[in-house]
Amino acid sequence: MLKEKIEAALNDQLNFEFYSAYIYLSMSAYFESIDLKGCSQWMKAQTQEEMLHAMKFFDFIAERGGRVMLKQIDSPETQWESPLKAFENALHHEGIVTEKINHLMDLAQQEKDHATQIFLQWFISEQVEEEASVNAVVQRLKLAGDNPGPLFMLDRDLSARVFTMPASGSDPT
Ligand code: FEO
Repeated sequence: MLKEKIEAALNDQLNFEFYSAYIYLSMSAYFESIDLKGCSQWMKAQTQEEMLHAMKFFDFIAERGGRVMLKQIDSPETQWESPLKAFENALHHEGIVTEKINHLMDLAQQEKDHATQIFLQWFISEQVEEEASVNAVVQRLKLAGDNPGPLFMLDRDLSARVFTMPASGSDPT
C-alpha cells in the first residue's frame, strides 16, 4: 500500500505532467499561428510524451493500491515573444520537472518506499533526455538568430519528430 504522503506527492506529479502537456500544446498552437509547422509538430509530439508520463503515474498509483485524484490544470501561457523565447521557456519548465522528480525521489527514500524509488528511476533518466532535447533546439535557435534561412531549416528538421508509444504501453519498465 502507498503511504498517504507518497500518494499525495505522486498525484501532484501526475497533475504536473498534464500541466506540462498543456504548456506544450499551447506552444504548438503558438507555432501554428506563426506558420512554423515543424516546431508545432515537435511540440505536439512533446505533448504526447507528457501524456504518457502522466499515465505512468496514473497506472503506478493504481497498481500500488492508491487512489488517483485528478485536479484542476492551470492555464498555460498562450503567447511568446519569439520561437527562441518559447523553447527557452520549455527548457526552464523541464528544469522544474527535474527538480520535482528529484524531490519525489528524496521523499520516497525518506519513507523507505523502495518500489516508488524504482519507478522514479525511469523518470530521472528521462529528465536527462528531456532537458537535452529541448536544449539542442534552444542552441540551434540561438545560432539561427534573425536569419530566416536557418530558422526554416530547423523548422523542417523538427517536423520529422513523431511520437511513438513504447511497445510496453505506459509500463515504465
Ligand atoms: Fe514529463 Fe517533460 O517531463
